[in-house]
Amino acid sequence: MNLSREIFLQQEDISAQCIDEIVAIERDCHYNPWTKASFLSALQAHDILKKFILDDEAVGYFVAKLALDQCELLNLTVKKTMQSKGIGRIILNQLKEICLARNISHIFLEVRRSNVNAIKLYGSFGFNETGIRKNYYRTKSGKEDAVLMGLSL
Ligand SMILES: CC(C)(COP(=O)(O)OP(=O)(O)OC[C@H]1O[C@@H](n2cnc3c(N)ncnc32)[C@H](O)[C@@H]1OP(=O)(O)O)[C@@H](O)C(=O)NCCC(=O)NCCS
Repeated sequence: MNLSREIFLQQEDISAQCIDEIVAIERDCHYNPWTKASFLSALQAHDILKKFILDDEAVGYFVAKLALDQCELLNLTVKKTMQSKGIGRIILNQLKEICLARNISHIFLEVRRSNVNAIKLYGSFGFNETGIRKNYYRTKSGKEDAVLMGLSL
């Protein structure tokens, strides 16, 4: 079921106090998850960290770094039990709104080549493939490429 036309997700900044909840989702969703220290370091770097809440529970989040007119999407995650319901697209839309309000002209990201669901989401959102970083990510059996993608606003 796609919820995107039916639900309103509350949006809040991720603070040091709520990072444990985010780290639990992160561990459940990624092969090589960010640690608590990674999130704290993003907070210290003044990156944008937003969580999205449904019924008092975080269902997804993003971390993005802004520099001049560029935004790098560092992390986008939807809680496993809430995936494929349109939430990833809602979060990307919110990121886009934030970027437009700050006169950002370009969003870019890296994604594992094997992460076909994420690549499909970014592609359908308007991101184009801009390059490949060979053997960038660790896998169980070795390495895999990163696909570089970009969206002009
Ligand atoms: C990738 C991720 C953020 C997508 O969020 P989501 O809420 O599941 O995605 P949505 O429901 O908004 O789907 C949007 C589009 O993504 C694609 N997609 C998402 N899940 C899919 C699935 N299971 N199978 C096929 N396509 C899928 C589709 O194109 C979909 O559009 P459609 O519904 O019109 O077909 C989420 O699956 C996730 O957190 N995965 C683990 C962490 C991760 O890989 N993050 C991205 C790292 S770069």
